[in-house]
Amino acid sequence: MMKNISPAFIIAFTYFIISFIWILFSDKILYNLSLDKEVINTLQTLKGWFFITITSLLLYFLMKIALNKSKKEKNDLERIFNSLATPIMIINEDGEILKINKILEELSGYKYKEINTIEKWTNLAYGENAEEVKKNVDTLYDKQTIIDNGDYTITTKSGKKIVWHFNTTSYGIKDGKKTIIATALDITNIKEKEKMLMQQSKMAAMGEILENIAHQWRQPLSTISTAATGIKLQNELDTLNDEILNNSMDAINNSAQYLSKTIDDFRGFFKPNQKKEYFKINHTFEKIMMIIGNKYKIENIHFIKDIENFQILNYNNALIQVFLNLFSNSQDAFIEKNTKEKFIFIDVYNDEYSAVIQIKDTAGGIPNKIINKIFEPYFTTKHEGKGTGIGLYMSEEIITKHMKGTISVENKQFTFKNKTYTGAMFTITLPLKV
Ligand SMILES: Nc1ncnc2c1ncn2[C@@H]1O[C@H](COP(=O)(O)OP(=O)(O)OP(=O)(O)O)[C@@H](O)[C@H]1O
Ligand SMILES: [Mg+2]
Repeated sequence: MMKNISPAFIIAFTYFIISFIWILFSDKILYNLSLDKEVINTLQTLKGWFFITITSLLLYFLMKIALNKSKKEKNDLERIFNSLATPIMIINEDGEILKINKILEELSGYKYKEINTIEKWTNLAYGENAEEVKKNVDTLYDKQTIIDNGDYTITTKSGKKIVWHFNTTSYGIKDGKKTIIATALDITNIKEKEKMLMQQSKMAAMGEILENIAHQWRQPLSTISTAATGIKLQNELDTLNDEILNNSMDAINNSAQYLSKTIDDFRGFFKPNQKKEYFKINHTFEKIMMIIGNKYKIENIHFIKDIENFQILNYNNALIQVFLNLFSNSQDAFIEKNTKEKFIFIDVYNDEYSAVIQIKDTAGGIPNKIINKIFEPYFTTKHEGKGTGIGLYMSEEIITKHMKGTISVENKQFTFKNKTYTGAMFTITLPLKV
């Protein structure tokens, strides 16, 4: 209760009580002494001076105590602010950075003076993205809830790149200006780990494609080898004529070109520098089939597609990786369940804002007790060496973080050519443009 009363009130109240008692009793005492008028007058004046001195001293001490206390409280707050391990920044709508804490100075390498405005901070920390970040910050002053601003790459004073995840919330009105408080979480290590997982998942996809290429290469390599040996043999037997030579050379040339083309296709998959591009999902699918279709054909897995013809703007290579993960999971499930009729359905359509991709198989579905876990990293039901459990985790990361879409799964029962099948169905939605 006492805590809510302001020190100013306590001081004024104490002053009032003491003055009240003084005025009430001092005069009474003086008159009761029954001295003569002259003396009473002198005593009155002295009494006034005495009162002023006492109350001045009293005010001095009370105020000193109160001020010390508030200074201590302020120091405590300051200490807490500076001992927090999360970078914090207080900014007002004029773009002034009012305060930053120690850890922010330490991690970023910039001293407060170097970054006391949003202008300075964004230019130093965000480089070419400065304008965009500034614009984003400008939208935050009118929001009352906690806003999740997402991940930002920051360049420290020493030139190192670190990743911070920002949250902001309103800090009320300070000096008549709307103020926000931004807190950051240093997630550089997490990002690094994610990158490693991504690499791992890419390697797995690459392994699968290599395996398939080896398969595809067997035929043309054997053609080349047969043609070359044939020419040599017929030359030795003196039966080589122009026609045979030409035919053999054509066969060798065709095969060599085929080999070269598969290499080009393969290279196109793993270009590290991914760029946004306009593409049709049907083309993405055709591209995948060109490279791994053969492998699925051999295993008697049929793709049934119903893909509407429209363009989206996104990362094509990223979608390829997701498709490869999903197809390879269906393939594993077919083998595990020993499925006879192996179909993978791809249905793609668009509504006003997004592309909807549904991929389902006939492998019997995912047991209900694990279906909620399959997107977790390292969750696998496969034997060691066969699965690591990052396929779907990575697919979800790619779809949600990279491509700004969603992915979900359910088991589905459906009919196809008058037969009923059950299988897992993955639904992916992607914005038409990111
Ligand atoms: N189409 C499917 N049918 C049945 N089960 C599936 C299907 N897709 C995924 N699963 C289940 O989900 C689990 C997780 O899949 P995920 O792709 O993340 O890992 P994985 O395939 O086991 O290993 P990795 O992809 O790293 O080689 C699988 O182990 C499997 O049990
Ligand atoms: Mg997998």
